[in-house]
Amino acid sequence: MEESDPAVRIEHLRDAIRYQDHRYYGLEDPELSDADYDALRRELVSLEEAHPHLVTPDSPTQRVGISPSGMFAPARHRERMFSLDNAETVAELEDWMARMERQLGRPPGDLVCELKIDGLAVSLTYEHGLLTRSATRGDGVTGEEVTATVRTIQSVPLRLLGDAPALMEVRGEVYLPLPEFEELNARQAAAGERLFANARNAAAGSVRQKDPAVTGGRNLSIWVYQVGYMEGGPPLASHSETLDLLRRLGMRVNPGTEVVPDVPAAAAFVKKAEAERDDLPYQTDGVVIKLNDLADQDELGHTARAPRWAIAYKFPAEERVTRLRGIEINVGRTGAATPFAVLEPVFVGGANVERATLHNEDEVHRKDVRIGDYVVVRRAGDVIPEVIGPVPSRRTGEERSWSMPSDCPFCDAPIIRPEGEKVARCTRGLTCPSRLREWLFHFAGRGGMDIEGMGYKTIDFLLDKGLIEGPADIFFLTSEDFVQPEDDPSPRAAKSPYFIGWGEVSVRNLMNGIEQARDHPIARLLVGLGIRHVGGTVARLLASEIGSMARLQEADVDTLAEIDGVGPIIAKSVAEWFSYEDNRRLVSRLGEGGVRLADPEPEEGPPQALTGVTVVLSGGLESMTRAAAKAAVEGQGGKVTSSVSKKTTALVAGASPGSKLAKAESLGIPVIDEAGFQRLLEGGQATLVSG
Ligand code: IVH
Repeated sequence: MEESDPAVRIEHLRDAIRYQDHRYYGLEDPELSDADYDALRRELVSLEEAHPHLVTPDSPTQRVGISPSGMFAPARHRERMFSLDNAETVAELEDWMARMERQLGRPPGDLVCELKIDGLAVSLTYEHGLLTRSATRGDGVTGEEVTATVRTIQSVPLRLLGDAPALMEVRGEVYLPLPEFEELNARQAAAGERLFANARNAAAGSVRQKDPAVTGGRNLSIWVYQVGYMEGGPPLASHSETLDLLRRLGMRVNPGTEVVPDVPAAAAFVKKAEAERDDLPYQTDGVVIKLNDLADQDELGHTARAPRWAIAYKFPAEERVTRLRGIEINVGRTGAATPFAVLEPVFVGGANVERATLHNEDEVHRKDVRIGDYVVVRRAGDVIPEVIGPVPSRRTGEERSWSMPSDCPFCDAPIIRPEGEKVARCTRGLTCPSRLREWLFHFAGRGGMDIEGMGYKTIDFLLDKGLIEGPADIFFLTSEDFVQPEDDPSPRAAKSPYFIGWGEVSVRNLMNGIEQARDHPIARLLVGLGIRHVGGTVARLLASEIGSMARLQEADVDTLAEIDGVGPIIAKSVAEWFSYEDNRRLVSRLGEGGVRLADPEPEEGPPQALTGVTVVLSGGLESMTRAAAKAAVEGQGGKVTSSVSKKTTALVAGASPGSKLAKAESLGIPVIDEAGFQRLLEGGQATLVSG
C-alpha cells in the first residue's frame, strides 16, 4: 500500500511511536532524539486532525487527558509526570502507610506535607541553568510545549542562581493569584467575554495561549514542588533537600511545607491547612503528603497512574452561607424553565458566586428554600454552585416561598409542566427570545460550530439589531453589517464607522471565526442544531455512518436505529427533526450560506483480517481484559459493539455471559467461546465458517 494513503501513513506513524515509546519507557534505551520523536507525533496529530474518522482509541494521541489540539508542539517529558492517589480520611492515610510498610518491610520514615496547589501542572527544563523548555502535563508522557507563554511568568527564573545542574526538569504548579483572577473576570465581563469558572481554568487558559503578550498581562505565578529528572546536580537524599536545592536555585517553593514524623502529625497539618486556606491569596484543594526519603521513594516506585510514596488528601467541597435575594427562571434552548437562586455574592470554591442552580420546582420545595432565606451554598472546583438548603434558625418570618410562574418571563407564553414530569417548559417554541438566544449560543458554542467571538454579547447585539433571526443568518453576515448607517447623527459615528463595541479587528476576527466554522465536520453542525439526544458522540456516529445531511434527511427510523450506539429513541428523535419543513429549510439555508453539509468520503484502508466483522463480548474472559480484547479486534479492522443485533457476526461467550447469550441464540447469531475467539484473532474470519 502507498504511504501517500493517509490511513496507511497514520498506522505507520502509530507503530513507530509505539515502538519508540517502548524503547524509551520500557527499555530505557531511546533510539531517536527528542526532536525526531516530536516530529513523528506532530505529523500524526495533524493527519488525525485532517482525517478525524481515522482516529482510533488506541492511537498514541488518545491517552486520557491529552488534547491533540495541534495548537502547540508536543513535548515529551524526560520522566513521566504522574498523577496522585487520593485520600479523604485519616484512616485512608493509615492504610497508605501500612501499604508502604509492607512493601519496605519496615516502618516508613518522615513525611513531607505540602499544600496542594490548584493550578496547572508544568514541567520546566533547565539546561546548564537556562530555561530551555516548558511543557504542560498532557497525558503525563507527552504534554504541550508552552515555553513562550511560561517565560512571561515573573516568578519562573529564566536563569537559575548559583551552581546549576547540567540538566534538570522541575515540576510545579502555575496559578493565578485570586485578586488577579477576580480582576481578569471583571475585565472579561466588561468585554462580554466568557467568564472563567475558577482560577485554575483561568491559569490554564492563560498558559495555553497563542499570544504570550496576553499571558504576560495576567500576572500568573508558580510554586515548584518536585524534581522530575536531574543530571549533574548535588547528591540528594530526601525530598526536603530537593526543596532546599530548588530554593537555592532561585525557584519559588511554598513556605508552608513541613516535615512531620507520622500520620497523626500529617492529619494535624491537614486540619490547620484547611482552616487557613481562605487566608491564602491562591487556591488550594488539599495537602500532598510525600515520603521524605528518596531511596525509599525509589524502592516503592509507581503504579500505572501514581507514585506509591505520595498521596493527596483532598479538602471537602467548600460551603458558605449567604442570602437568597430571589429566585428567577432561565428558559433554555429546549424550552425547559429552570429556577436559579440569585444570591448575595459570596466567595466559595475559588470563585465569586452570585447564582446557583435550584434544578427544578420540586427541588425548591423539597429543600424548602424561601426568598430572603440565608442558604448554604456549595461549590467544588468546576462544579456548578448549588444551594444545599436554608438556615431555618436565621429566619425572620419575612421570607416568601416561591412557585413556578405561570407565564414565561421572556415571551409571556404559558409555562406548562405535564403531569408526572419534573421539567416545566415554555410553550412558545423557538420564537421565545430566551430559547432562541440560548440556541444560538449553543449553536456557536464549543461543542457545536465553535465560532470564535460568538458569545452572548455578540448574539445579543445581532438579535437586537435584527441582523440575525436564526443560526443560518450567521453565515450571511458581512463586515458591512457592523457599520452604522450613514445617517447616524451620533458624535461617535464621526470617529468610527462601526457600531459601539465593534472595531475593525473584532469584526475581522468574527468574520474569520464564521469562515472557519463553514468547513467543520458535519458532526459539529449536528450538535449545533440541537436535535434532542444528539450530543457529540451520537453526532460523530451519525456523521461517520451516514456522511451527509442530505442522506440523513432521507434516512428512516429503522436505518438510523441500526447504527451501533444509536438505538430507537435517538433514531426517532433525529427522523422527527428532519421531518419538519422548517428544519429542512434551515439546513438548506445553512448550505446556501456556505456551510459544509457532507463529510469527505472515508479513505478505504487495506482490507484486514477482521474487516466487516462485528463481535459482542459477553461475560469475563480469562486470557485478556475486555479492553485488550476490543483492541485486538479493532487492530485487525473489526468492530466490538455492546449489544447483540442482526448485524452481529458472533457473540463471544465468556464466564457467565448473561442475557446477551439468549438474545444471540434467538437471533441465530453464532456463539463462540474463548478458544474460538482466540482462533478468530489468529486465523481471521475464516475460522467462523470452518467452526
Ligand atoms: S507532586 C509524582 N506536589 O496535583 C508527584 N503535586 O492530583 C506528583 N499538585 O498532577 C505531583 N500541588 O499538578 C505534587 N505540592 C504538590 C502539588 C501537586 C499540586 C498537582 C499536580 C499533580 C496533581 C495530582
